[in-house]
Amino acid sequence: MHLSRAWDDEDITTAEISAATGAINTAVELGITLFDHADIYARGKSERLFGEVLQRTPGLRDRIVLQSKCGIRFAGNPSANSPGRYDFSREHLLRSVEGSLRRLNTGHLDLLLLHRPDPLAEPAEVAAAFDELQRSGKVRHFGISNHSASQISLLRKYVDQPLVANQIELSLLHHYPISEGVLFNRLDGIHADTAGTLDYCREHGILVQAWAPLASGKFSAPLAGMDEPMRSAAALVQEMARENNVSAEAVLTAWLLRHPADIQPIVGTTDPARLTAVCAADELRLTREEWYALLTAMRGQSVP
Ligand SMILES: NC(=O)c1ccc[n+]([C@@H]2O[C@H](COP(=O)([O-])OP(=O)(O)OC[C@H]3O[C@@H](n4cnc5c(N)ncnc54)[C@H](OP(=O)(O)O)[C@@H]3O)[C@@H](O)[C@H]2O)c1
Repeated sequence: MHLSRAWDDEDITTAEISAATGAINTAVELGITLFDHADIYARGKSERLFGEVLQRTPGLRDRIVLQSKCGIRFAGNPSANSPGRYDFSREHLLRSVEGSLRRLNTGHLDLLLLHRPDPLAEPAEVAAAFDELQRSGKVRHFGISNHSASQISLLRKYVDQPLVANQIELSLLHHYPISEGVLFNRLDGIHADTAGTLDYCREHGILVQAWAPLASGKFSAPLAGMDEPMRSAAALVQEMARENNVSAEAVLTAWLLRHPADIQPIVGTTDPARLTAVCAADELRLTREEWYALLTAMRGQSVP
């Protein structure tokens, strides 16, 4: 999402191409193989930057898994008074994929995710679009993002292809899809919008991808300016980072990786040094005590 920082209509710059090349090369050297996009990121410029790097790096496309997302439309498109909205119509899905393929300089997406649920979606129409995209070889696999268990269940009734991934916000900061499970049947445990989604995905073999897994660096900030319980949680993350000689972001990533759902963190940093530091999470297996201590600190209270 952040390969280009500018969500405007200016062209991409050589400085942006050079920074994107550094970030992508570092990721590949670290063993990262999945790259997440969306048609809307930086108004298409993040995909364009990635496409530039792909074109300049022979063989790279065959070594990576490329995913993009579609279904969000900006305000002002096509007419000045069009509102920001979601659009899972067949026409929009097909048009969106064409745009992503063109910008990414690739013949196919390995994975296409529906970005955010569209209340006006006709599941049969989505199914028809998926069939067409798969038949033409433009998309190999399909998934969803920000979808609840019931929304996925409805879609699965119509779509022939397996839905292989659901990308949701998930981190130590935004822990609700995980922590709701320990709060079943309690008044303080009502998260109707996430209810059962993590378990549903596990049950049906749908990979859970965690967006914003690093909470945008909030746990690395100076503690002085923070309110509770964030302050205590950040203090504990920073202490564990010091003890293990890793970054705070590696601890956050290890917290997600410790969960048995095989959660896939979609790491957003494009800074090669931060990315390298995050990957130290591979070597850091948190104990049950450490995992619960972090959750307890972030929730500001013990488990029931
Ligand atoms: N499906 C969805 O609805 C959805 C929504 C949002 C995001 N996403 C996807 O998820 C990815 C990750 O989300 P995200 O980028 O918002 O969140 P993130 O991975 O939690 O945070 C990364 C962002 O925080 C900045 N940052 C500042 N201090 C940092 C530190 N100490 N350590 C690490 N990062 C720090 C990074 O800047 P630097 O690059 O300068 O390090 C980068 O902009 C996105 O790139 C996108 O692909 C999906």
